[in-house]
Amino acid sequence: MNIILLGAPGAGKGTQATKISERYNLPHISTGDIFRANIKNKTEIGLLAKSYIDKGQLVPDEVTCAIVKDRLTWDDCKNGCLLDGFPRNTYQAEQLDTFAEIGAVVNINIDFSLLMDRICGRRVCKDCGESYHVSTLGGATACSRCGGELIQRADDNPETVKNRLDVYNEQTAPLIDYYTKKGVILNFTGSEAPAEVLFAEIAAVLDKKIG
Ligand code: AP5
Ligand code: MG
Repeated sequence: MNIILLGAPGAGKGTQATKISERYNLPHISTGDIFRANIKNKTEIGLLAKSYIDKGQLVPDEVTCAIVKDRLTWDDCKNGCLLDGFPRNTYQAEQLDTFAEIGAVVNINIDFSLLMDRICGRRVCKDCGESYHVSTLGGATACSRCGGELIQRADDNPETVKNRLDVYNEQTAPLIDYYTKKGVILNFTGSEAPAEVLFAEIAAVLDKKIG
């Protein structure tokens, strides 16, 4: 089954995606991660994406849709995949409908007052991409999973985060309605509770859908 993870920046999409992907053996496809890998490797797409990501704007639809359309043809997607950060506007959702069937949309609603601290306090592993928050690191600078160096994302600064939240409100939030009308939305609420608490709620619902 193809599953979409929907939610504002910092809602916990990436954090939940790692857990969902492991439990249901679905490849985790994050357009943000794909762009960051391209930026790291200094590809043409990376160069283009960086100019948008640094401002908190969406990378142009044609580029993003083409990347996802191609990625979904890979062998590991034959039993489904987990899309994190795509689609992000109605045009992308309509394009996705032309090349994939969506079985469920896990929508994480969250109070925006929690997001600035979460995002600006985030540290990510340079090698495996695991996400942490400074408040739980106790000064550690290496990833507890693979030992990689923990860094701060270039777009995790207050000014860019504000733009990302505006873009979410204007362009991405309407997708809640889009997928509600299709009858595939599953609504959850993010909170200050540990990520495992939200994951238990999500898994309880997905277990019944996926079996
Ligand atoms: P992307 O990488 O997708 O970023 P985002 O949507 O802004 O979301 P984040 O990754 O910031 O948040 P998240 O929801 O994954 O939260 P996380 O789990 O890390 O996109 C980046 C950019 O790429 C975009 O701005 C755009 O320019 C471009 N882009 C990407 N997709 C695109 C598309 N389809 N079209 C066009 N452009 C696109 O958690 C956040 C923090 O909170 C972490 O520190 C984490 O440890 C902590 N945390 C998580 N859960 C909890 C919890 N329960 N309690 C306490 N802390 C928690
Ligand atoms: Mg993410």
